[in-house]
Amino acid sequence: MLISFEGIDGSGKSTQLARTVAWLKSLGYDVLLTREPGGTAAGEQIRAQLLDPRSHLSPRAEFLLYSASRAQLVDEVLLPHLRKPRAIALVDRFADSSTVYQGGGRELGIEEVEAVNMFVTGNLSPDLTLYLDVDYATSVSRRERAGSEPDRLERSPREFFESVREAYWELCERHAARVRRIDASGDEDTVFAQVQAAIAERLPVKP
Ligand code: TYD
Repeated sequence: MLISFEGIDGSGKSTQLARTVAWLKSLGYDVLLTREPGGTAAGEQIRAQLLDPRSHLSPRAEFLLYSASRAQLVDEVLLPHLRKPRAIALVDRFADSSTVYQGGGRELGIEEVEAVNMFVTGNLSPDLTLYLDVDYATSVSRRERAGSEPDRLERSPREFFESVREAYWELCERHAARVRRIDASGDEDTVFAQVQAAIAERLPVKP
C-alpha cells in the first residue's frame, strides 16, 4: 500500500507522518517513510539544486528535475519495498505535488503535468492521498514559528500558494476516490485522528 501526504508548506505533514509511521509500525506493518524531492542519493542531490534560492530554473526544467528525483525514488526505493509482505510506503509528497505546484502554480497545465507523471512513475499511483489543507496565513505563521530560512519555493509570492491551494482542491474533486481532504488547521491530535480514520478505512488487513 502506498500512501502519500500532500499540502502546502507548513501544513504539518512532517509531524503527522512521524505519528503515522509509529502507529502503523505498532500495528505490525513494514513501514517505509520517504520524501520528495529526495529519498535516494541522486534525489537528494537534485533536491539541493531545486531548493537552493540561487538556482534559476525555468518552470519546465523545474518540473523535470522533480520528475527525475521521483523516477529514481520509484525504481530504487518504492517498488522494491512494496513487493514485501505487509508493506506500507508513506511518501512526504508524490506526483500530485508536481500537478499542483508546476501544473497549477507554475501554470504548466494540470493535464500536461499529469500525463508526464504517468510516464515518470511507470503508472504507480498512491492507493490513498491525504491532503492536509491549511490556508496561507496558517502556513506562513507555522513556517515562521519553525524559524528556518525560506527555501527557493517558500520565497514564492502569496498568489503562487493560493493557486497551488486551488489546484489541490481541484485535485480532491478530480480524484475523489483516492484523495482525501483533511482540515489541518486544528491541533495536532485532532488532525491525527482524521489521518488515522482515513487510513483505517483502507488497510487491507487489520492485525
Ligand atoms: P520541502 O522542504 O520538502 O517542503 P515541505 O516540507 O513543505 O514538503 O520542499 C519541497 C518543496 O518543493 C515544496 O515547496 C514543494 C515543492 N515541490 C514542487 O514544487 N513540486 C514537486 O513535485 C514536489 C515533490 C515538491
